[in-house]
Amino acid sequence: MHNGKLYLVTGGAGFIGSCFVLGLVKGGRAGVVTMDKLTYSGNPHNLDSLAGNNRHRFAPGDIGDAVLVSRLLRAHEPDGIINFAAETHVDRSIADPAPFVQSNVAALCTLLGASLEWWKTLPPAKAATFRFLHISTDEVFGSLGPGDPAFTEETPYAPNSPYSASKAASDHFVRAFHETYGLPVIITNCSNNYGPRQFPEKLIPLAIINALSGHPIPIYGSGENIRDWLYVEDHCAALELILERGRPGQTYNIGGKSEKSNLEVIRTLCALLDEARPERKPGSAGHAGLITLVKDRPGHDFRYAINCGKIERELGWHPALSFEAGLRRTLDWYLNNRAWLEQVQSGEYRRWLEHNYQNR
Ligand code: NAD
Ligand code: DAU
Repeated sequence: MHNGKLYLVTGGAGFIGSCFVLGLVKGGRAGVVTMDKLTYSGNPHNLDSLAGNNRHRFAPGDIGDAVLVSRLLRAHEPDGIINFAAETHVDRSIADPAPFVQSNVAALCTLLGASLEWWKTLPPAKAATFRFLHISTDEVFGSLGPGDPAFTEETPYAPNSPYSASKAASDHFVRAFHETYGLPVIITNCSNNYGPRQFPEKLIPLAIINALSGHPIPIYGSGENIRDWLYVEDHCAALELILERGRPGQTYNIGGKSEKSNLEVIRTLCALLDEARPERKPGSAGHAGLITLVKDRPGHDFRYAINCGKIERELGWHPALSFEAGLRRTLDWYLNNRAWLEQVQSGEYRRWLEHNYQNR
């Protein structure tokens, strides 16, 4: 399939996974087999631009299907597995934790088990360079107060939502497969990603869709909650470096060095929308006039902040894009990809809006 490296990317039809796959394959840096269950947030169209590219294969399936995973590993003999597959939306985990336990914990364990069995059959040289890279989140560290120091790799886990609890559990299992069986794993904990192809249940694309159609932009609680925003391509560049030069058994924090309150994020976005679509400015306040404070998320973490000094020191990675530049690029992508936006607003999407926003 490809002369250089080849990776199995699980969850590669989602937001971050597809950015990672597109970058690797189009950049000619590796071949990829993408495996994805195609849940509501997984979208095969995210990888449309790879159609006919012989460096890429798509394998629909669940990471909890040991037979399928083993078959893919034997058939393609990848140099590494990069696991993005997960249920990812905090509000959905509050509505129903069960799919989060199923995919993020149980299915992940199956993926680890099948990976381990295959890894044990590898010749020593290949076994030594193989990597299992698990993509996790800063949410496992819990919530910070306004003046608290940012999360480091040593910050104790204190997950608060069913989503972050399931991701914390997944990290512990990944770590255990290294400590117990020697599987060469690496875990990354990153902050809030934004960019093209993010499913519009998350804050930024939801706000873009609502603003474009003149609907209220719902902000939970006071809007003062803070996130550290990371442009998705910067995140993927960090992951590639970690795959090449990260140390097995280690964890790396990845952040955008861009802490913003939700109101700051949405006000910046509204100003960009006013600029991009002056003719559609709704009223004298512009798009910002659509901002509406609504009932808060239960257990809403106040602040996340990432200290990414370790990856900066060890691997020389830094986030390249400022928040303003990244947000401009993101908005441009959504404005220029209306077909994608329309296609993802399916019946399932409308059901979710009704469920999550009706009584706020
Ligand atoms: P996403 O929801 O856009 O994509 C998740 C993908 O995983 C989808 O394509 C889905 O179909 C697939 N999937 C789900 N369960 C599966 C299963 N059992 N088997 C195979 N495929 C399955 O999410 P995303 O934002 O791209 O997140 C990717 C990873 O990064 C997740 O592990 C998430 O926890 C983590 N993460 C995301 C962010 C963020 O801001 N988006 C930040 C930190 C960490
Ligand atoms: O920190 C990393 C995490 O970031 C990832 O692990 C998760 O997968 C990802 O979904 C994201 O979680 P958040 O809960 O921070 O993202 P979300 O976009 O849902 O919300 C961002 C902030 O905006 C949060 O404080 C809640 C708020 N919010 C969200 C929505 C959907 C609103 O105010 N209104 C909304 O309608």
